[in-house]
Amino acid sequence: MNKNIDDLKILIDSKTLNDRIKSLADEINAIYPKDETITIICVLKGAVMFFTSLAKYLKMPVKMEFISLSSYGNSTKSNGKVKSINLALPSFEGERVLVVEDIIDTGLTLTFLMNFISQNCKAKDVKLAVLFDKKCARKYDIKPDFCAFEIDDKFIAGFGLDYCGLYRNLDYIGYFEE
Ligand code: IMP
Ligand code: MG
Repeated sequence: MNKNIDDLKILIDSKTLNDRIKSLADEINAIYPKDETITIICVLKGAVMFFTSLAKYLKMPVKMEFISLSSYGNSTKSNGKVKSINLALPSFEGERVLVVEDIIDTGLTLTFLMNFISQNCKAKDVKLAVLFDKKCARKYDIKPDFCAFEIDDKFIAGFGLDYCGLYRNLDYIGYFEE
């Protein structure tokens, strides 16, 4: 079925998103030492809005890295494969790393990425922050350290998340009614 923006119903409005991201940043600020640098890694493209919003509220010294990964293509269901586009990262030896991702669905993408980072980057600590957790869709055993919202197994778009490349620019989260 072809979907368009008229079929997109609001699930989470802009203010609710921003308030929750701010309180999630407070949770993160409480866990990390105040004066130790962390590197936050943005998993493009879906995490872009969450990443920049979250970063503004972090109080410790912060460095930023960006990587590209994808698994969905133009479908609304995970296809079971991770397509890596750009995984170039520095070494992070002895440093703290926080991976920032839009959503965990089956868990395939983040299982792949977290393993890749632990094996290649020698960080002293690697944690994971996600905007959404679709817990009920999980096929791989992975849990985020920080999560803004748990959601049902429905396809959502907006605030970085896309449907066929569209809707990433929206300041709210919508869903398509079946
Ligand atoms: P996983 O590998 O099955 O956990 O899928 C994770 C990736 O699929 C995420 O990084 C998103 O880019 C994408 N994804 C999963 N669910 C949705 C959704 O509801 N809307 C948009 N993209 C999604
Ligand atoms: Mg993603």
